[in-house]
Amino acid sequence: MTKPIRLAVFLSGSGSNAEKIFLYFNNHATIEVACVLSNNPQAVGLQRAEKFGLPARVFSKTQLRESDEVISWLKEAGVTHVVLAGFLWMIPPNLVRAYRQRIINIHPALLPKFGGKGMYGSKVHEAVKAASERETGITIHEVNEQYDEGRILFQGKCPIHPKFSVEQIAEQVQRLEHAHYPRVIEQWVNETK
Ligand code: GRF
Repeated sequence: MTKPIRLAVFLSGSGSNAEKIFLYFNNHATIEVACVLSNNPQAVGLQRAEKFGLPARVFSKTQLRESDEVISWLKEAGVTHVVLAGFLWMIPPNLVRAYRQRIINIHPALLPKFGGKGMYGSKVHEAVKAASERETGITIHEVNEQYDEGRILFQGKCPIHPKFSVEQIAEQVQRLEHAHYPRVIEQWVNETK
């Protein structure tokens, strides 16, 4: 039987956050992952989805940006909310409109600092280190037409020792992501039902 809240998880790469989401909502009473979508057929996250038996689809830039095809897939799958978990392309206006306030993203820094176009992956942590920041963290936010500018739902912080390498910063941030993203998604969908 399908559950009332159906998530589509978009990913482009490793999908470690996506996996935590698959685990968290596996056998959940009211929320399920309905499908996984990616722009990258080689994404390791797609293999993780397969292990959970989740249906997955890959789309091209043209399909996402210049048609309503992806929106049609989501509607056909009964998707109620979209979760971005390491998805690297901008969400086009037609998709934002179709799922207004129903798209969530996680960013590996404390927005509005270290956000915007080109700020992804280790580039974020390199910039944080170069700025000699004493703390960093994660931001979970709704997605609108601008990169990294939707309503902030949650921020979690961690301290940075001046001797930390970029990798050490990344590790700390990833730990925060894995600990909080599934729970924040659950709370958010329950508020926006
Ligand atoms: C995470 O750092 C997330 O904040 C950002 O992309 C990264 C995805 O990592 N949006 P993974 O693919 O979940 O391991």
